[in-house]
Formats: sequence, structure tokens, C-alpha cells
Amino acid sequence: MNKITAAITAVGKYVPEYVLTNKELETFVDTNDEWITTRTGIKERRILKGEGLGTSYMAIKAAQDLLQKSKINPEEIDLVIVATATPDLLVASTAVYTATEIGAINAFAYDLQAACSSFLYGMSTAASYIESGRYKKVLLIGADKMSSIIDYTDRATCIIFGDGAGAALFEPNTEGFGLKDEYLRSDGIGREFLKMDAGGSILPASAETVKNKQHFVYQEGKTVFKYAVSNMADVSEKILERNHLTKDDIQWLVPHQANNRIIEATANRVGVAADRVMVNIHKYGNTTSATLPLLLADYEDQLKKGDNLIFAAFGGGFTWGAIYLTWAYNS
Ligand code: UT7
Repeated sequence: MNKITAAITAVGKYVPEYVLTNKELETFVDTNDEWITTRTGIKERRILKGEGLGTSYMAIKAAQDLLQKSKINPEEIDLVIVATATPDLLVASTAVYTATEIGAINAFAYDLQAACSSFLYGMSTAASYIESGRYKKVLLIGADKMSSIIDYTDRATCIIFGDGAGAALFEPNTEGFGLKDEYLRSDGIGREFLKMDAGGSILPASAETVKNKQHFVYQEGKTVFKYAVSNMADVSEKILERNHLTKDDIQWLVPHQANNRIIEATANRVGVAADRVMVNIHKYGNTTSATLPLLLADYEDQLKKGDNLIFAAFGGGFTWGAIYLTWAYNS
């Protein structure tokens, strides 16, 4: 019997309607369109507005988009993973609520948190369940409402992040399509440089933490940038080397969308031409766990069965890595 690999067989997406442009940011924080465009590549990002709407609102819509396009019966789904750094609630899982709302009544579900690498790590988890033969349909959703933890007076973070969700279905394949290799890393040194201080078990919420703005995400941008550039490029190069791939074997680079300069540095190291690099940072900014599946959904029409994709991500923690996957279908 042929080896079972885990293939992506469908994708879906959702971004909120509200568009926060660089021009609008200029009206409430000391920044400008020219700086943001040249330093990050971002022109606009989406923001989820509306009382009581959390990350699950977008996760559900992305999953429904996938289900509607693929005609998959949600009752056949075995497992729903929501990769997110901004769950609806701290204790009750966002994935459980999402699974129930989309009609995945036979699934179990849980959240996975690894900051901007959540979806990448989730791909590894989803693929492992499929490769082992334990489950047949694993729905992985990357979703983040970053606007819920952003200080819109802090120009170091508010210009970068946006809200959104994307979904991918993993199923068994015996023709060699799907996830081929992964190289995942982490280093606790990163905790100081990209974090939210309060609201966790170290510093629970109090009037003081709210007053001190400790429920917002903080990042030391320059430091994170340096680690991101070297590590994303290193792992991408490593995964090519150990699979004996050259740049000509790679049809698409699928990089986390944090900063256009990080994307370019990774692409340069891998040697892939610009038109082979998936980019949508100009439209959505950094949507944390949603960047990779949003890219897949945006580029789905251009992907062909047999295309080799290299995914690369870097995020808080630090967490980072690369995945080599062969695309399994023509849309
Ligand atoms: O998603 C995973 C993790 N996150 C990342 O990977 C993000 C990594 N970091 C970055 O993308 C970049 O560090 C930022 C976009 C956050 C900042 O860009 P930078 O090129 O590292 O800028 P900087 O912080 O070194 O600041 C350069 C200058 C400073 O002015 P002076 O000291 O040179 O006069 C800043 O005060 O730019 C100034 N500046 C701004 N100016 C206008 C910083 N932020 C802004 C801003 N608008 N929003």
C-alpha cells in the first residue's frame, strides 16, 4: 500500500468589510502612508467591527466558505483546529464553538496557539493525524482579531496588524501529494520582545493592568525584525537543502505576511522570483494566524496540481519554521 500523505483538498477565507487605510491611520496616530508603505508594504488592513463579534465570527465564515465551495458535509469532519492568538474567551475553546456553529457535530475541536506560527504548527498537527490514519478530515482554521489587542495610539504595532481568517481541509492522499517535510523551531528568548503582559496567569487582569495598557500587544519591532529575517530565511534554505530541491523545483513561496522586507529577504535567500512569491500584505497587513490560509485562498486559482510550495513563518515566542507541501488539486 502507498504511504498516506496529508493533502490540502479545499480552502476558504473571510475578511471583515471595514477597511482601515494608511490615510485613516494618519488621522489618529503619528505616522504617514509613505513610511508605512516603504517600511512594511502595507496599504490597508481589515478590522472586525460590531459588538460581541470575536475571532470565531471570522473562523466560522472562513469555514463556511470552504464548505460551500467544496460541498463537503460538515458531519464528516473529524477534527477542527482553530489556530489563533486571540481566542474568543480565555478558557472556553474558540474551535469548539466554531465546530458546533458550522455543523461539525461529529468532530472534536481545540485551539492551537503559537503566535504568528500558529497556522504553520497547525499544519504539522493536522497532517500528523491524517498520516497516522487516525482521522480522515481535519479542518484547520487560522483566525485572529488582532484589533482586539492593539493599542491604536502605539504606532509601532497599530500600523501592522489586521483581522481575518482562512481555512484549509486536510485529507489522506496516496499519490504523493500533500505535506512532504517540515522544519519547526522555537526559542523562549523571544518572550521579551513580542508579548501581551497582562491577562494571563503571571499578571491577571486588574484595574492597574488596564490603566497601564498591559492588555495590548507589545513588540520590540527592530529585534523581532532581525530574528524574523534570519530565521525565516534559514529554515526555508534548510528545507530545500534536505529535500534536494533547487529554486527551480519551487513553484510558490508562501511566507508569513509581517513585513514586505522580511518576505523579500526570505525570497532572495531561496532564490525564488518575485512572481512566485505569494503576497497580500498590502491588502490585509499582518493577520497573525490567518496570513498563510488567506494567501492560499487568494492564490487558489493560480495553483496547479503538483506545484511545490514552501511555507515559512516567524512569530512571537519565538516560534518559526518551514513546510514543504505539494499541491493536490486544480481549482
Ligand atoms: O508577525 C510576527 C512578528 N512581527 C514582525 O515580524 C514585525 C517585525 N518588525 C517590523 O516589521 C519593523 O520593525 C516595524 C515595521 C515594526 C518597524 O520598522 P523599522 O524599520 O524597524 O523601524 P524602527 O522601529 O527602527 O524605526 C525607524 C524610525 C524611527 O525614527 P528615528 O528614531 O529613526 O527618528 C521611528 O521612530 O521610524 C520611526 N517610526 C515611525 N515613523 C512613522 C516607527 N514607527 C513609525 C510609524 N510611522 N508607524
